[in-house]
Amino acid sequence: MAVEQLADTFYRLTLAAPQIAPASHPGQFVMVACSPGLNPLLRRPFSVHRRCDPDRIQLLFRVVGQGTELLAAKKPGDVLNLIGPLGRGFTVDAADPVCLIGGGIGIAPLLFLAEQLRMTRRACTVLLGSRTAAELYRLTADFIECGCEVEIATDDGSAGYHGLVTDLLPRRLSAMKRCYACGPKPMMATTALLCQAARVPCQVSLEAHMACGLGACLGCTVHGVENGYLHICRQGPVLNAEEVAWNR
Ligand SMILES: Cc1cc2nc3c(=O)[nH]c(=O)nc-3n(C[C@H](O)[C@H](O)[C@H](O)COP(=O)(O)OP(=O)(O)OC[C@H]3O[C@@H](n4cnc5c(N)ncnc54)[C@H](O)[C@@H]3O)c2cc1C
Ligand code: FES
Repeated sequence: MAVEQLADTFYRLTLAAPQIAPASHPGQFVMVACSPGLNPLLRRPFSVHRRCDPDRIQLLFRVVGQGTELLAAKKPGDVLNLIGPLGRGFTVDAADPVCLIGGGIGIAPLLFLAEQLRMTRRACTVLLGSRTAAELYRLTADFIECGCEVEIATDDGSAGYHGLVTDLLPRRLSAMKRCYACGPKPMMATTALLCQAARVPCQVSLEAHMACGLGACLGCTVHGVENGYLHICRQGPVLNAEEVAWNR
């Protein structure tokens, strides 16, 4: 296991996970026991950020509370208990070119997706948004290395466009065959609306508080347009944008 600090609160964890890595698809997640004891009791969900080789995966996380603080303090040789891969991932099909749009820690699942798209030789534009340039420094390089065209937006104007990452989308969208988004809910709602207006199919990776990650506790709900509630851990986390009731 290796832990790298990419920015102030952004960390990347590399793990040997020989059973999970080969079975993972972009957009799927793992449930991580952040401590070997009972505190915190519940596992925490994290997207598979990358598959480094057949046996290793990476998680990208932001420290927000006890579980992520414990993960940031892990040392080489420590052992983590993971369940996964879980949930439904992104559809990687023949659509070309595609646009990936990520905000903040929502960028996490998009690198694995970009790497998969590169393997299928799909042209890929990536729009990345963050609070400040430091959070994007390493990630931008990873996407460029992956053959993507990258444009960035920052809240404080420290790099790229000064403003919301969704402001970059309209200019790009007319040329796209599909859009994939992950980030804060308002960012994904705007992306969904823009894609709908441009008739570009859009998939979003959603977040909800999860207790089990397995469909047992029914805690991870969002409102669906037709189906009442959608359970993010089983029906998602990736959903077609038009399935989600964004205004509820
Ligand atoms: C499918 C899925 C994939 C995810 N992938 C990633 C990822 O790749 N990288 C990453 O950093 N985070 C990801 N998250 C969010 C991550 O699970 C939470 O940040 C983590 O559980 C926080 O644990 P904690 O113990 O540090 O914080 P806690 O002490 O549990 O919470 C600290 C604060 O974070 C908020 N919070 C906790 N969980 C969530 C959540 N799911 N959604 C919104 N707010 C939350 C709490 O309300 C609280 O304000 C994902 C969540 C889901 C559902
Ligand atoms: S997290 Fe328990 S049902 Fe989804």
